[in-house]
Amino acid sequence: MGKIVISTGGGDAPGLNAVIFAVVKSATKLGWEVYGSRHGYMGFLDRDELVRLMPSDVEGITSTGGTILGTTNKGNPFSMPVKNFADEEMLVDVSGKVMDGFKRMGFGCHIAVGGDGSLEIAHRFAEMGMPVVGVPKTIDNDLEATDRTFGFDTAVSTATEALDKLHSTAKSHDRVMVVEVMGRDSGWIALYSGISGDADVILLPEIPFDMETVCAKISENELHGKHYSIVVVAEGAKEEGGEVRNRGKGEAGRAEVVLGGIGEWVAEEIRRRIGKDTRSLVLGHLQRGGSPTTFDRLLALRFGSAAVRMAAEGLFDRMVAWTPPTMSAVLLADAIRCRKQVDLKSDKVLTARSIGICLGDKE
Ligand code: F6P
Repeated sequence: MGKIVISTGGGDAPGLNAVIFAVVKSATKLGWEVYGSRHGYMGFLDRDELVRLMPSDVEGITSTGGTILGTTNKGNPFSMPVKNFADEEMLVDVSGKVMDGFKRMGFGCHIAVGGDGSLEIAHRFAEMGMPVVGVPKTIDNDLEATDRTFGFDTAVSTATEALDKLHSTAKSHDRVMVVEVMGRDSGWIALYSGISGDADVILLPEIPFDMETVCAKISENELHGKHYSIVVVAEGAKEEGGEVRNRGKGEAGRAEVVLGGIGEWVAEEIRRRIGKDTRSLVLGHLQRGGSPTTFDRLLALRFGSAAVRMAAEGLFDRMVAWTPPTMSAVLLADAIRCRKQVDLKSDKVLTARSIGICLGDKE
């Protein structure tokens, strides 16, 4: 194998540094040289963005958040924003240059750590002949072929801790607190944190909600002497017959819209419909920050070392997946086919309903 390169792409997630640590340590043990491409694919295009990673460079990073390589969610080499002479931004296909850089450097494998967007790019490079191994990263946990992505457990812990703290202030003021959490088009973070954080209402993208049902739950709490309520709203949730709220694409080269705003809308509707004192907050990027939980660290370390084993066995155009109780190599094409959504028949959804949590539908 000789030389390999690792990159981190898309939104950051706690555990990225643990993957880098495991890749550097495991590959060095096999006698390979490891390089890191900074900010996604920039290292393939510009030598200044390529760093040699020695075991000493990764000491102590397992417990740290973010990524020592930097990342970007507007760095798709098939549609890269670049400025022309008139200082106007244009989208250019630089994938050929990435392939040239990869070959010129003599790499035998690219370990691409990313969510569905980054892994789709990795798969396109694999189709062009790059030996790629993918590692599933995202706080959203929305990758189909793996039971878990790393980063999710930490995001859920952060959201649950926030909900725990909101209970006391909501109770003191007899208020409704509406909390918007991340997750894109999947409700995993909302469901897991909402159940664990004792929410009264959880609104998921998978279940279009009815505001009357939501307000009825809050009013029912009042009738039972509970004068406060906690409502968890996934950023991708929408009203029955309504639209997902977003803030547009933001930056050039960004493939997906930035979701957000549904929490404040729900809060406003509660105020308007039942006159209850209501506040809303957006947990936002707090969910992506900080030290990975033990679960995420261990998963990330296992993913990293399994990715190196896959490279050693020549298992390319594949992603390492956690398929309990083992790690497996799944085709990248299968991993990116569709986004994993909450199974409405799962025991977590049944648990939420059994313990009296309103999911915004009529059941
Ligand atoms: O995919 C991870 C994620 O945090 C989503 O939950 C969220 O919608 C998005 O990224 C936010 O992206 P950005 O960091 O560009 O605001």
